[in-house]
Amino acid sequence: MYEGQGTGMIWDAEDYRAYSSQQKKWGRELIAKMALKGDEHVLDIGCGDGELTVEIAGLVPDGGVLGIDSSPEMIELASRTYPPQEFTNLDWRLMDAKEISFAEEFDFAFSNAVLHWVDDQPEVLRRVKEALRPGGRVLFQMGGRGNAMDMAMVLVSMLAREEWNRYFHGFVLPYHFQGPEEYRGWLEEAGLRPLRVELMNRDMVQKGREGLAGWVRTTWIPFTQRIPEEKREVFISELVDGYLEKFPLDGDGLAHMNAVRLEVEAVKP
Ligand SMILES: C[S@@+](CC[C@H](N)C(=O)[O-])C[C@H]1O[C@@H](n2cnc3c(N)ncnc32)[C@H](O)[C@@H]1O
Repeated sequence: MYEGQGTGMIWDAEDYRAYSSQQKKWGRELIAKMALKGDEHVLDIGCGDGELTVEIAGLVPDGGVLGIDSSPEMIELASRTYPPQEFTNLDWRLMDAKEISFAEEFDFAFSNAVLHWVDDQPEVLRRVKEALRPGGRVLFQMGGRGNAMDMAMVLVSMLAREEWNRYFHGFVLPYHFQGPEEYRGWLEEAGLRPLRVELMNRDMVQKGREGLAGWVRTTWIPFTQRIPEEKREVFISELVDGYLEKFPLDGDGLAHMNAVRLEVEAVKP
């Protein structure tokens, strides 16, 4: 881990790549809303394994994309899978969103499924504003207020038991699920003009129990990393089975979960 790493989380990048179909689906819908002309320079904040970043690069043949992420594991996987020597309008950098430091180099700041991990989002927005050229656009989607509540409630009941509670003393929740009220104000304070800031309810779909367990294993790491490795699978199974008992698989064997996303569109005047 490097000094500036924001969340202190260690991501299993390969596992994330294998079990992130839902994040990628939402990410692709978000990319479609970018309405790129083809010559923009895009900053992808929290690029993860780079799968979406490379798709954006394909849409800006006369521009370029820089994918930044605070996880060395993610940047390593992204740059190994999509080497800049081969993808000439694409580059990667290990960088925390709170340490973005560019002077009017980008036309677009994009971010999918990342910013709810960041505690000081006003700081990110101030830095994004500096990184954008005048007229530059912002399009972010992240977990929003009320996200994954049904799963969280199962977790809360598990953590009430000493068996699991003992690993959570002093635990501080690292998710920062916000609503439009605070976000609009932060955008304005940062010097960005909000165009659309809205919470959206989404059906999160996972491929059966295995898909749901994969999603928990790869993204609920603030919790799973507290559990000793030899008990981690039991913890994940209990959480997933507890959830499926309340919200069973549908007739096609798919798991569903109520998700809330916050989508943010803004422009630098
Ligand atoms: C759920 S993944 C999303 C990855 C990718 N954007 C996608 O849609 O597949 C969240 C990513 O956010 C990154 N991340 C979390 N906190 C960050 C921060 N403070 N600065 C930069 N990246 C961060 C993680 O390392 C991880 O790669």
